[in-house]
Amino acid sequence: MFKSLVHRLLLWLERQEVRYYMAKMHVGNRVAIERGLRVKKPMNITIGDDVSIGCNVTLEAQAPIYIGDLTPIAPGVIIVTANHDMSKRIRINSPVKIGSNCWLGAGVIVLPGVTIGDGALVGAGSIVTKDLPPEMICVGVPARPLKPRPKS
Ligand SMILES: CC(C)(COP(=O)(O)OP(=O)(O)OC[C@H]1O[C@@H](n2cnc3c(N)ncnc32)[C@H](O)[C@@H]1OP(=O)(O)O)[C@@H](O)C(=O)NCCC(=O)NCCS
Repeated sequence: MFKSLVHRLLLWLERQEVRYYMAKMHVGNRVAIERGLRVKKPMNITIGDDVSIGCNVTLEAQAPIYIGDLTPIAPGVIIVTANHDMSKRIRINSPVKIGSNCWLGAGVIVLPGVTIGDGALVGAGSIVTKDLPPEMICVGVPARPLKPRPKS
């Protein structure tokens, strides 16, 4: 009984947190967000229409993060926009742009300053260090184009 009350309270708090993020982000229509979203600077985030965000996703938006329409973000994806200048010990923020109709697989990490072209699919566990071309399946560490994405 007590456990279930605590559980419900935690769920409620989590929903309030997501509502707070949603109010600050620029969010399109029919956006679904699962549990465990972590966000830094929500006002820097733009999410298009028909986007789904899986559980335990981190959007660290020191600089703008843009996610295009119809792009599912699988569980455990991390998108970061901040780097550290090694010599001067200052932080450098660079925006991340993910196109429309993309798909980021589970556990993908996207590094600062990267643009992912429309329709690109990034395989699970990949680390995106540089721009990726549109309509390609990209995998690996660092992520590289593997083959064209089949037309539906
Ligand atoms: C990228 C992906 C779509 C490729 O699927 P596919 O077209 O069927 O590709 P294949 O399985 O034929 O693999 C082709 C090659 O890429 C490699 N590969 C596939 N996925 C990879 C990945 N995520 N990272 C590194 N290499 C990968 C395979 O090992 C294979 O290499 P080989 O030719 O040397 O044997 C798929 O592997 C994947 O990562 N899906 C994401 C699943 C996911 O995150 N789901 C979340 C649901 S919400």
